[in-house]
Amino acid sequence: MDIARADRRIYLDNAATSYPKPAQVWESMARYMHDVGASPGRGGYGSSLDAGRLVFEAREAAAQLFHASGAEQVIFTPNVTYALNFAIHGLLRRGDHVVTTSMEHNSVMRPLRSAQESVAAEITVVRCDAQGRLDPRDVRRALRPNTRMMVMTHASNVCGTVMPVADVARIAREAGVLMVADAAQTAGTVDIDLRTLAVDVLAFTGHKGLYGPPGTGGMVLSPRAATEMAALVQGGTGSRSDEEFQPGLLPDKFEPGTPNTLGIAGLGAGIRFVLQRGVSQIAMHELRLAGEFAQAARVIRGIRLFGPWETDTSAALCAPDRVATVSVGFTSAQADPSRVAYLLDRDFGIMVRSGLHCAPVAHRTLGTFPAGTLRFSFGWFNTIGDARDAAGALAQISEAY
Ligand code: ALA
Repeated sequence: MDIARADRRIYLDNAATSYPKPAQVWESMARYMHDVGASPGRGGYGSSLDAGRLVFEAREAAAQLFHASGAEQVIFTPNVTYALNFAIHGLLRRGDHVVTTSMEHNSVMRPLRSAQESVAAEITVVRCDAQGRLDPRDVRRALRPNTRMMVMTHASNVCGTVMPVADVARIAREAGVLMVADAAQTAGTVDIDLRTLAVDVLAFTGHKGLYGPPGTGGMVLSPRAATEMAALVQGGTGSRSDEEFQPGLLPDKFEPGTPNTLGIAGLGAGIRFVLQRGVSQIAMHELRLAGEFAQAARVIRGIRLFGPWETDTSAALCAPDRVATVSVGFTSAQADPSRVAYLLDRDFGIMVRSGLHCAPVAHRTLGTFPAGTLRFSFGWFNTIGDARDAAGALAQISEAY
């Protein structure tokens, strides 16, 4: 088949948002809109109770997936960026020291830089190696008497490197430092067990590996984080309505205002889809496709792979050191990643993301700043054919350079 004239579309931007979504996700959303419609916790009538049940079931599904100590520890937010902002701005006090890594997304770096200005936070960015790997011992060395928080990504959105969050969390817990993990790229594709993982704030997004709709996400809080985190947004909760101060009970403390019940209905269905399939099944499927693509891409003349794929395309399936995100660069300066992304879409119907992926510091670490890379990210609904066609298209385009 001449894939240059393929009429099918191949979506390979699952690290940005997963597509398509399982049917049960949009069916659950349609059911809420059509049959329920009411606001949860705001009335004693049947539809309001039904809406409350939908939200509670989604909270329970998230608690089950992450092994949270209770469903009330799960707080819903509009996305992972909001969760990270709540954690960073809600936990840092004047003059606190924070440690982070050089592989972060701007959803971590920007609130940290803002806290540097607003509360004179001191920030240490621990340098990762050229494949985006972090040595936990460097985190230990960076700790100071006034270190309050360690905040880091669980996996790079640029090149897929899975970070040693468990080791770092252990170091943080021993030092009495709050541990905040950004699970944007791992929730649903890497096992996260909060019974053993010493994380105080697990920030997650709903629309990637959890297959929910955009506009959903949240955080799972340890008892310490729930107590010490200031509620940055206040308002009606449907509870303690006689009081003018924000209630301290969870999840209400961090969920003022009418929730995104429509989105949460979809998110709950998405998480249940993940629970039914199993995180390790999903990871194995996605990594197999990413590995197939990486293996074919690495032998294309003029192509370079980044992150763990650079040296090893076999992708250990049982103890993954990566997620199914492969970043590609070109040895020829004439091959601009954005131009190649455009050609992939125009001529082959292949959708990928190019550039800096909102993570300039990560690209500086990988040596790909400022042009960035071309990122292929695989999801549950991709097939081996998608991976092969993507590599074939890349080979055809790179012949021109
Ligand atoms: N942070 C998302 C990405 O990496 C949107 O594309």
